[in-house]
Order: sequence, then structure tokens, then C-alpha cells
Amino acid sequence: MPTFSLKINGKQHTVDVDADTPLLWVLRDHINLVGTKFGCGIGQCGACTIHVAGSATRSCLIKVSQAAYMDITTIEGLSEDGEHPVQQAWKEIDVPQCGYCQAGQIMTASAFLNENPNPSNEEIRSAMDGNICRCASYNSIEEAVKVASEKIS
Ligand code: FES
Ligand code: FES
Repeated sequence: MPTFSLKINGKQHTVDVDADTPLLWVLRDHINLVGTKFGCGIGQCGACTIHVAGSATRSCLIKVSQAAYMDITTIEGLSEDGEHPVQQAWKEIDVPQCGYCQAGQIMTASAFLNENPNPSNEEIRSAMDGNICRCASYNSIEEAVKVASEKIS
């Protein structure tokens, strides 16, 4: 089994796994970072979204071999204290319902706001479009991204 070195949330990890293993499995099953969720496994729901080199990335679609030596951030590493502006906004608006999709929503929103800190509502809807919420918390998500953008800009 090959060995891969991964930099996740600022810490180095070494894993022995098949090169084709999806990064999502490695995060959850080998490194115990279970905040990143499995939804569909085929890139369709966004539940598994993390940041790879700062970009929102579906960890079910990227192989561990593609992620080696790249800067990876999961929901556990977005902030030290849960007080990233997006996390603050999520709490203020009380977005989560069942919560299952929310780590992916927050990781998508935070990467988006890094690129576009002052978005229109239409831009927010477009950016968040691929993240499915089975509890249909879409209006709250849009409002929270707006609130987060006001905190950032
Ligand atoms: Fe990765 Fe659904 S689990 S997009
Ligand atoms: Fe339940 Fe989004 S809060 S799936």
C-alpha cells in the first residue's frame, strides 16, 4: 500500500491507502475528521465539501493521490474557535435544521466569500446552488451568507 503525506488543517498526516481512495474516506476513516459528511459519493450533493488550496472541493471526487502535498482544510480547521465570520453568521441566523449538509454549506460559502466578499443575492444563490439541503434551509443559508459578507467586508 503506498504512503501519502497530507497537510490537513495545518498538521501533517501520513496514511497508507490505495492511491485511488477518495479523500473523503481518508478524512473520515483514517484521520477521524468526521465533520465532513458523505452524502452521495458522486459529486452531486456538496455534503463532503472541503477546501483544497483554498478552493471548495468535493472530497468524494478527489483521490488521495491528487491531494498529497496540497493545503487541505476541513470544517474542523476553518477556525480555531468556531468563530469564522461564516460560522458566526450561521449561528446568528440559526441556519441548521438536521445539520447533515451544513459543514459542506459552510465550506462552500467560506471559499466563495474569499473570492467574492461582497456578493449580490443572485451571486450567493448561484454559488450555493450545488449544495443540497434536504431540510430546504436555502433561504436561511442565503441570508447567512449575506450576513457573513457584511462581517467580512
Ligand atoms: Fe461528495 Fe455528495 S458526497 S458531493
Ligand atoms: Fe438537514 Fe440541510 S439541514 S439537510
